[in-house]
Amino acid sequence: MSTQMQAPDTAQNGAQRRDTVTVIDNRTGESYELPITDGTVRGIDLRQVRTSPEDFGLMVYEPGYANIASCRSAITYLDGERGILQHRGYPIEQLAEHSTYLEVAYLLIHGELPTSAQLEEWRHEVTIHTFVHENVKRFMQGFRHDAHPMGMLLGSVGALSTFYPDANEIEDPENRAIQTVRLIAKMPTLAAFAFRHSRGQPYVYPDNDLRYSGNFLSMMYKMTELKYQPDPRLERALEVLFILHADHEQNCSTSAVRGVGSSHVDPYSAVAAGVAALYGPLHGGANEAVLRMLNRIGDKRNIPDFLRGVEEGKERLMGFGHRVYKNYDPRARIIKSAADDVFEVTGRRSPMLEIALELERIALEDEYFVARKLYPNVDFYSGMIYEALGLPVEMFPVMFAIGRTAGWVANWLEQVQDPEQRIARPRQIYTGSRDRDYVPIEQRG
Ligand code: CMC
Repeated sequence: MSTQMQAPDTAQNGAQRRDTVTVIDNRTGESYELPITDGTVRGIDLRQVRTSPEDFGLMVYEPGYANIASCRSAITYLDGERGILQHRGYPIEQLAEHSTYLEVAYLLIHGELPTSAQLEEWRHEVTIHTFVHENVKRFMQGFRHDAHPMGMLLGSVGALSTFYPDANEIEDPENRAIQTVRLIAKMPTLAAFAFRHSRGQPYVYPDNDLRYSGNFLSMMYKMTELKYQPDPRLERALEVLFILHADHEQNCSTSAVRGVGSSHVDPYSAVAAGVAALYGPLHGGANEAVLRMLNRIGDKRNIPDFLRGVEEGKERLMGFGHRVYKNYDPRARIIKSAADDVFEVTGRRSPMLEIALELERIALEDEYFVARKLYPNVDFYSGMIYEALGLPVEMFPVMFAIGRTAGWVANWLEQVQDPEQRIARPRQIYTGSRDRDYVPIEQRG
């Protein structure tokens, strides 16, 4: 099959310009004109390309969906070639500088920046829903002492669906609104409980006098003091991290949320799927993998050896490369500068930072990385901030999940209200045997 796109100068040549693409099937000589809408052709339109009436028709084979648009979305704009990230049209740089996480969450979910009154109400709603049922606490206590906090988060957010069985009434806007608030509000509580569990420390209840990030720090670090006073600089650094992770269009975990949500399951189960996807080392687990990698390199002198191994395909340079960005990830740039503020407060400048900076410098000049357009992504430096905040590496993907909850929920809400969406159900190319007769076990060789 050959696919011919109209030459850009067709109109100048006198031929009529049409928003279509002509496909010629060289097996049959048939030609098909497919409409182009928003720079896309519909995969289903290819099904008419067939060799006979019995033929199933042409399908698109695309592992990893790299060139498949699975939805229309008005939430996040991303131009990976130019390193641009915007939420509802607002550049990530401006949001990271001026906004708060809850305001960005509101923006992602409602589509507009809130007025003061709307923000106050939103903040109040989220604040009064930070507590979880005591039984949630009890079953979290049932995890093994060394349970990975991301696994605990995954299990517990999914379990919330059993505490809110009406959450499956996804057609009801009011119902969706309350589950939305609950998810944004309870995620930090579950995350902090998971952290305290891994330390063998008592869980700390939310403090509703504090703001979103301050309350999270309190649930993480409060010991015997009557009131935990978060350092405003650390609070701000956390806000920035949560903002930077809030959404990133159709990434693996958001696609998982949409894929599972397309079955019309409740949002807790859909978000649990997002947490599961984020757990993996190629996605949200990468920040954890970066720190492990830097620890393994151990010294700047070992960098050339390490990079040789990467170039020989023995391993990956974690925190580098991105499916969409073929330029410096704008989030990595902001995080890199936020790291210094945190190091100043905590006095814990990560010993790994020197190695990371040198690794980045060498990699950005290295032919292997230049040719493949591999740049640092959001995970390259975020781990060092988390480390400076006293977090163990297992908590890094959990931090990512807290921030990303806003994006997951915004995408879920958009999806369930999108009349074009259907249950996610891809096709396959079947490569196995066919038409075999069952062989009784005693006759098998
Ligand atoms: N180190 C070494 N080589 C790499 C890397 C890397 N980190 N990333 C990509 N490549 C190479 C890859 O081997 C391939 O080379 P070749 O053409 O010779 O086969 C080429 O670059 C294209 O890579 P790909 O695997 O086709 O790219 P992808 O779009 O499928 O994968 C990725 C994207 C993020 C999974 C990948 O870059 C990666 O594994 N990076 C390391 C893990 C990481 O940092 N993940 C966090 C992503 S950002 C946060 C998030 O959204 O979760």
